[in-house]
Amino acid sequence: MTWWRRGVIYEIYPRSFQDSGGDGVGDLPGIAARLPYLQWLGVDAIWLTPVYPSPQRDFGYDITDHTAIDPRFGSLADFDALVAQAHGLGLRVILDYVPNHTSDQHPWFRDAAKRDWYLWHPGDPPNNWISVFGGPAWERDPDSGQSYYHAYLREQPDLNWRNPAVRAAMLGVLEFWIARGVDGFRVDAMRQLLKDPLWRDNPPNPDYVPGMPEYDSLLPVHTADLDEVQEIVAAMRAVIGDDRLMVAEVYAPIERLVRYYGEGGRGAHLPLNFHLIGTPWRAEDVGALIERYEAALPEGAWPNWVLGNHDRPRIASRVGPAQARVAAMLLLTLRGTPTLYYGDELGMADVPIAPHQAVDPGMARDPVRTPMRWDAGPHAGFSTAEPWLPVGAGQGVAAQRDDPRSMLTLYRRLLALRRDSDDLAEGAYRTLHAADGVLAYARGERTAVALNLTGEPRPLPVAGEIVLSTHSGGGASLQGDEGVVLTI
Ligand code: GLC
Repeated sequence: MTWWRRGVIYEIYPRSFQDSGGDGVGDLPGIAARLPYLQWLGVDAIWLTPVYPSPQRDFGYDITDHTAIDPRFGSLADFDALVAQAHGLGLRVILDYVPNHTSDQHPWFRDAAKRDWYLWHPGDPPNNWISVFGGPAWERDPDSGQSYYHAYLREQPDLNWRNPAVRAAMLGVLEFWIARGVDGFRVDAMRQLLKDPLWRDNPPNPDYVPGMPEYDSLLPVHTADLDEVQEIVAAMRAVIGDDRLMVAEVYAPIERLVRYYGEGGRGAHLPLNFHLIGTPWRAEDVGALIERYEAALPEGAWPNWVLGNHDRPRIASRVGPAQARVAAMLLLTLRGTPTLYYGDELGMADVPIAPHQAVDPGMARDPVRTPMRWDAGPHAGFSTAEPWLPVGAGQGVAAQRDDPRSMLTLYRRLLALRRDSDDLAEGAYRTLHAADGVLAYARGERTAVALNLTGEPRPLPVAGEIVLSTHSGGGASLQGDEGVVLTI
């Protein structure tokens, strides 16, 4: 069995994990210094969001050089040292790979000879396409009078993946990092890579109601998830191979999402499954989601689950602190590879950001990207300088690590249980109960999980011996907000 099937991925937002340079922004040596913590916690791999040179308009997702390290974060030597130290501790390193767009400051975009590396249209925008971040997806260049397409910010022009030179250059980026020893990639914006060559209008979304993000006013049938994208997925997978992990960011309905596994090992190992993020936190809904996802998985595909990331509200804010413990148990006992967002193991919630401190251009994602809380030192041990975003209130690692009731202890126990249990790591999933606020399921032959998604006591719908509870007790019935793992 490959490591990532049993493994747990931990997402690090490098700006906010640990600052070692005293500038209020996290960096690679800071991450390296905290690797022993991650080993102690019990995760298997770290995924770093982009650390490449960038004007930081979209905080690293606007790249000027895909094969270098931004001096804010350190140097290539720091990166090599981080990989070596991680490997020494048995941790894998996964990089964010951003193939869909570059920064508008990238030398390619500024090179007149590489005009066909991007998507230019003479004159005014040819259609109604909207940026994911809102507003028109076309920007008119005053010098040439031409317009270019950008799925995200205007400072993030989309690359033209129909151009073989772009393809060769961007696949070469994968090879560069593979040669430096990385263990995998998380491919950004996978489904956006190709757009309709005829540049037809996107149709209106009949389900759109005012108040929804502007992007949702159209159905992106000509700008996302084109069938031909699968061929690029396969080209990337061919470079990444079987010994390294290919994770893909794919926001899509389950039936479309699972196509990114590809056929015959030609797709992503793990097309990220974000559906827990949008599903109502009710036993019936979560149970139905798991059933639908499990049923949709193609032969041989390995499932995966995500509770949160750097783009979406944190789980503790979505369901509240008490249910966040239940959610932790769900994430770490479902069948499939979990991705854990840094700080969720402390119960970190969204941190309110005053308007004058806001830095995310328009998307309001700052509250979920605030510094990790380590100890009682200045700025919670994150930095000696004023952090780039404020540190939220609440206990950090030092205060939680020896407290048997803390969220951190719960996460660590769940991670250990999962590591030691073949049932939890590999056993088949079977729903036992999904009603009246309680979701219960079996994993393998001898393990069951029962989760009370309400604040009221509920009968325990499965008999067995409790091996782990989100609460201290563990009795014949479930307390409000309690989850238990049982041997049956
Ligand atoms: C992905 C990233 C997000 C970024 C966008 C554009 O959705 O997760 O943070 O803004 O791609 O690169």
